[in-house]
Amino acid sequence: MTDKATLTLGEARIELPIIIGSEGERAIDIRDLRAQTGHITLDPGFGNTGSCESAITYIDGDAGILRYRGIPIEDFAASPNFGEVAWLLICGSLPTADEYDAFSTDLTRFANLDEGMKHQFEGFPRNAPPMAILSAMINALSCFHPELHELEDEGQFRIASARLISKIRTIAAYAFRHSRGLPYIYPDPNLRYVPNFLHMMFSQPYKQYVCPQMVRDAMNLILILHADHEQNCSTSTVRVVGSSGANLFASCAAGVCALWGPLHGGANVEVLTMLEEIHHGNMTPEDYVKLAKDKDSKVRLMGFGHRVYKNFDPRAKMLGEVAEKILPRLCGNDPLLDIARRLEEIALSDPYFIDRKLYPNVDFYSGILLRAMGIPTNMFTVMFSIGRLPGWIAHWWEQHRGHGQRIARPRQIYTGETQRPYVPIDQR
Ligand code: ACO
Repeated sequence: MTDKATLTLGEARIELPIIIGSEGERAIDIRDLRAQTGHITLDPGFGNTGSCESAITYIDGDAGILRYRGIPIEDFAASPNFGEVAWLLICGSLPTADEYDAFSTDLTRFANLDEGMKHQFEGFPRNAPPMAILSAMINALSCFHPELHELEDEGQFRIASARLISKIRTIAAYAFRHSRGLPYIYPDPNLRYVPNFLHMMFSQPYKQYVCPQMVRDAMNLILILHADHEQNCSTSTVRVVGSSGANLFASCAAGVCALWGPLHGGANVEVLTMLEEIHHGNMTPEDYVKLAKDKDSKVRLMGFGHRVYKNFDPRAKMLGEVAEKILPRLCGNDPLLDIARRLEEIALSDPYFIDRKLYPNVDFYSGILLRAMGIPTNMFTVMFSIGRLPGWIAHWWEQHRGHGQRIARPRQIYTGETQRPYVPIDQR
């Protein structure tokens, strides 16, 4: 099999190397294309463009496969442990018992925010979007830890990662408490990652929230299933920002902003809004699907479709199963789950969705589950951010210590005016 592609441009023929990934994925290496031909490639939305080589996550969108560092996500379902998966993504292999203990200890000891940082929350209006607070506060963290701006050795990097993963959950919980005018609840060093987060969210000064095992497992699984997804919009953003030499905190804060959008992480909020609209009788599932197919309506079936998956998103499949299992125990018969199932049924048998290979994505069921655990809708994308953080960190580090990585700086095809003279204002 050839390991070069030949490109004919007028009279010229140039050879471009083929790069082959460990799972047989193939890419034409165009690094020298412009230098050799004066041409660039044009690929809006980057659907055909590889921005890097990466050893973190593998997706086969046609087969519905997702693996972290080679391990299928389904393998994490039996005893889901977000801390373990965070380590796996960041460090490359599953932690030994000692490594896991040390990492867990770090996640616990770094959970508090500097008291000075706590005051920053007061400056935000009560109704501030929690994603805005999250991004601003992750950036603010870098002011409190300037020593972590230059991360050159592995040890320093691991400390910075643990700080960030630990503190993001404290920031998220405080953003929620601030929005409700509730007192901030300090992290409890006796609790593990997920129960500690829910304690900071839901405990009262006079009454501690007790996290049921079922909720703890489901929340761990939700975070795990969001933990990485190769070069998605927010991760690419983290890499683009990091490529300029920006520090880990600044790069991840940018990732939060990218995730906020309704076509990315913000879709989990939109899914719930859609289900509630149908539930309140404004529309039937059939009407909604009809509207989503109408190109003039600008409505999309939220939680459906994916740039990479042209088959079932395996994360949606797993979350759908968890929802089926735990929802009746958490909140009885949830009508929104029935509506979601009906929408899924209609869409999966409709030629519009079949022809375009549109299947439920991770956001389709995550909102229903989060809602059943008491997480308010405006915190859904924040939950996604907590889950996605280890992926962002892993990608930032892979790029930071990689060789030959250049600042991200795409080119363009200019379509504006050709050269014309400046006209003074009194002559226009
Ligand atoms: N509802 C109705 N039609 C859809 C949907 C949908 N959810 N998704 C895609 N389509 C249609 C498009 O209108 C387009 O139709 P056309 O060929 O007739 O013009 C075709 O399917 C291809 O769609 P694109 O927008 O080109 O696909 P792309 O890969 O760019 O977008 C995306 C993927 C953004 C996820 C899209 O499917 C979408 O908007 N889905 C709804 C929002 C959502 O759930 N986002 C979460 C994604 S997962 C995540 O970020 C974690």
